[in-house]
Amino acid sequence: MVTIKAPRGVRDILPEESWKWSYVLKKTSRMADLFAYREIHLPVFENTELFSRGIGENTDVVDKEMYTFKDRADRSLTLRPEATASIVRAYNEDRMDNGQQPAKLWTSGPMFRYERPQKGRYRQFWQLDFEALGSNSPYVDVEIIKLAIDLFTDLGLSNLDVIINSVGCPQCRPDYTRKLKDYFRPRLDSLCKTCQDRFERNPLRILDCKNENCKKITENAPDIYESLCKDCRDHFDEVTQGLERLHISFHLDKRLVRGLDYYTKTAFEVLSGELGSQNAVCGGGRYDNLSDAVGGAPLPAVGFAAGLERIVLVMEQQNCSFGNEPGIEVYVISADNEARQEVLSLVSDLRARGISCDMDFLERSIKAQFKSADNKGAGYACIIGHDEIASGNVTVKDLDTGKQDSLKKEELFAFLTEGLKDGKRDR
Ligand code: HAM
Repeated sequence: MVTIKAPRGVRDILPEESWKWSYVLKKTSRMADLFAYREIHLPVFENTELFSRGIGENTDVVDKEMYTFKDRADRSLTLRPEATASIVRAYNEDRMDNGQQPAKLWTSGPMFRYERPQKGRYRQFWQLDFEALGSNSPYVDVEIIKLAIDLFTDLGLSNLDVIINSVGCPQCRPDYTRKLKDYFRPRLDSLCKTCQDRFERNPLRILDCKNENCKKITENAPDIYESLCKDCRDHFDEVTQGLERLHISFHLDKRLVRGLDYYTKTAFEVLSGELGSQNAVCGGGRYDNLSDAVGGAPLPAVGFAAGLERIVLVMEQQNCSFGNEPGIEVYVISADNEARQEVLSLVSDLRARGISCDMDFLERSIKAQFKSADNKGAGYACIIGHDEIASGNVTVKDLDTGKQDSLKKEELFAFLTEGLKDGKRDR
């Protein structure tokens, strides 16, 4: 029989890696608290319309990458390719407009896109997503970028490149799109097939084509700054001044247009050279018209999402610390078969006192049990055998120093609690 494997583009996060994820998630949650963002849990599937109207029919995500299926009642549902549209839906549906504004929310979890798998690009991947809804202040844009930078800095990431642009708004973008089309029309034959298609459907996307020839052609394309309306220009100036004020180094990149249609004004990405062609650790921006697009009231908002797999990849490549790999505190060893009931009971007593511990379930030799204690990172081994049962004592060995004692049970609990209190085993 053929063994069933995981589908292409998805992977298991084994315990050897998952503790690193927990470390990043813990830091993220701490950063969210510092910036006053509250956690929200969202469904992993939504009505397909939320994404097709929210993200835009002409985007790659909606056009080619969604996992869409019919449920048993013939409704079209889609595994979420991102979290922003869902957060806007939740804001509207759960009447968050009645609460404090802006509503500052964060979430994390798996997203799904049918993309060509490669390093740092998967079909199921995790995002850390932060959104501030209900304010059009440029200072929220600054705060959201600062949050991303502080998170990455706290995780120890270095050599990151922050790029920023303004993609305008429905008032000024049509004028810019017209200028772009006028520029590209006589050069259409020289563009790649994908860009020829983008010319009608989404000309802005030609600007961030990775094809060398298209890149060359876009070099002299009209500059969006010259087409921005006063409101967009003032907003952008305020954002860049705010970033300078907070000493965040960034550079302007007029080719940055992002792959989702909902952006207005600020767009930004944080890039790492460590990631190869999939070099964005995070991306985000302002999306003042997404709520209208999905049938809600106008709602100015800004946010970003970072790829968890990519963060961990960069951290590994830059030898960043993930804290200590968690280990158990105590391993309880049975020296002979008659001690097993006693071991079971001691393990249970230790756990009841909040001490993490484990025991052998394979009736292995003492030597093998010591090896398990070592593999599991235990700080102490407790040993119970015929002699200990007769004396009512437990032998305890400090596995770092090799020092051994024989203690009554109550003494043992006090001894271990004292020995473990300084985080001998970081959990
Ligand atoms: P995005 O640029 O599509 O934006 O994705 C954000 C981040 O998710 C990327 O920078 C990358 O780190 C990660 N990512 C995206 N696709 C994959 C993949 N296939 N495999 C691994 N990682 C991936 C958004 O999703 C927007 N919702 C961001 C946002 C929030 N804008 C405003 N608020």
